Amino acid sequence: MYVCNCNAINEKTIKSEVSKSGKNALCTLKKECGLGQDCGMCMKHAQSVVNSCPKD
Ligand code: FES
Repeated sequence: MYVCNCNAINEKTIKSEVSKSGKNALCTLKKECGLGQDCGMCMKHAQSVVNSCPKD
């Protein structure tokens, strides 16, 4: 299921980015994939996916 429909970014992509860049994942996805840069409706869901990832 897509989190960001505008840019075709799914939960798996977000979780994988969190494992690489930790709390900077959303910034990286914004810059590199355009997450939240169109309608912006996905940011709340994207943040909740990041929050659901286990912290190390
Ligand atoms: S759903 Fe992510 S920018 Fe529109």
